[in-house]
Amino acid sequence: MLKSKPEACEAQYRQSYHFTPKQNWMNDPNGLVYYQEEYHLFYQYHPFGLQWGPMHWGHAVSKDMVHWEHLDIALAPDENGMIFSGSAVVDWNDTTGFFNGKSGLVAIFTHHDTDPHSTKPRQRQSLAYSLDKGRTWIKYPHNPVLVDEAKIDFRDPKVFWYEETDKWIMTLAAGDRIDIYSSPNLKEWQYESSFEGPSGEKFGVWECPDLFKLPVVDHPEQTKWVLFVSHGDSPYGSRTQYFVGDFDGHSFKPSCMDHKVKWLDSGKDNYAGVTWSDMADGRRIYIGWMNNWRYANEIPAHGWRGAMTLPRELFLSSKDLLIQKPIKELENLRNEPIHMKNQLLAPDKDLLVNFQGNTCEMIVEFEFESGKDFGIRVFKSDNKETVIGYHVEKEEVYMDRRNSGETSFNEFFSSIDCAVIKAPNHRMKFQVFVDRSSIEVFVNNGEMAMTSLVFPDLFSKGIELFSNGGNVKLLTLDLYPLK
Ligand code: FRU
Repeated sequence: MLKSKPEACEAQYRQSYHFTPKQNWMNDPNGLVYYQEEYHLFYQYHPFGLQWGPMHWGHAVSKDMVHWEHLDIALAPDENGMIFSGSAVVDWNDTTGFFNGKSGLVAIFTHHDTDPHSTKPRQRQSLAYSLDKGRTWIKYPHNPVLVDEAKIDFRDPKVFWYEETDKWIMTLAAGDRIDIYSSPNLKEWQYESSFEGPSGEKFGVWECPDLFKLPVVDHPEQTKWVLFVSHGDSPYGSRTQYFVGDFDGHSFKPSCMDHKVKWLDSGKDNYAGVTWSDMADGRRIYIGWMNNWRYANEIPAHGWRGAMTLPRELFLSSKDLLIQKPIKELENLRNEPIHMKNQLLAPDKDLLVNFQGNTCEMIVEFEFESGKDFGIRVFKSDNKETVIGYHVEKEEVYMDRRNSGETSFNEFFSSIDCAVIKAPNHRMKFQVFVDRSSIEVFVNNGEMAMTSLVFPDLFSKGIELFSNGGNVKLLTLDLYPLK
């Protein structure tokens, strides 16, 4: 029997293995840090409403980045304003003096308020620290610690320790560039340089930078620096770009200035992603806000609004391209798979007949000789579906959510996203994570990612493999219902 409507709706879109706030509005991930066997996830949070509002830092901890325990709000607005995005670090050597010679967590965030003189918005950087593994936070009494009166958009500090100069480095979004500062103690900051990117398209205001080092895959002796920049207004709405280059403690120099834009994700719903600090095992893992500012305040919501992407581990290819893979801890969610191999696809043959699933993972490899396109239909019913496909001639992966379910809340939502990617040896491999209102696709072992929200109705849970014309073979399929 169908449940009563409100209850059905809450369960309908509530993600089952993605992080969502217990209730009300969430945007960016903040303060990602690992400390004393816990992963911390803070997030932009409006605890009193379903739309963006006075920002707090919500908080959760996890042992595996998959199962999260919700904790009390960590930071609430104060006399310096709302608490915008920022980062957290372990101050191992007590450079701040907050920890009596021991180590502890420090959050570095933006205070946002209105300048009482000019009545313009004002953004200044501040500190808070915790003496109890992040359970309670003390705001530094001399906040703010970094001010630039000339800049209105001046926010989202991401900090790391740079061993070569024994200094903290902060990257900060400043209008349409990234400012870099250094500090011996997180309290006094010195301007080092600005990174403006290649001239040309700026894609709106820059937000949520992150600068980190990665080894090159298969050449571990070689490391490069990666800079994430989230852009408020690209043709795809809000989207994250990355640059690869070098950092010498003062400035970031991309390897190539006239490069084609490298998007971190080719879907619409992966924004403001940043990486965990102080990882014990050296992995570089990020999480993004699975949403887009163009419609974030309007997506269907029943008691809560906003979800994070899956945590993804980053690797750097020798071509300076990022590879991203869902973290291995997610494999613990897998139930017994449905397994198939070596089957020809045909228009009237549904290999997954009767399969219903809206919380599952699929690893599918196709081999094609010819044909127009092929792929996977998810959230399928007689008249609804979201299509993940590969267009052979265009050499494009696409995700078509125009007929996915509820799309009418905003014109921009109903869309097809696509991105060019070659099929090596005429083979394409998709790893797809379906949760009740999202789809994440990793193509060819993480060479490309495509992330989309969808709002299907309760009956659209079918999954189907398809090919339009030509000769397409399913090489292997593993379909795991997820716990
Ligand atoms: C990015 C962002 C940040 C800002 C925060 C406010 O999504 O706009 O630049 O700090 O959200 O909630």
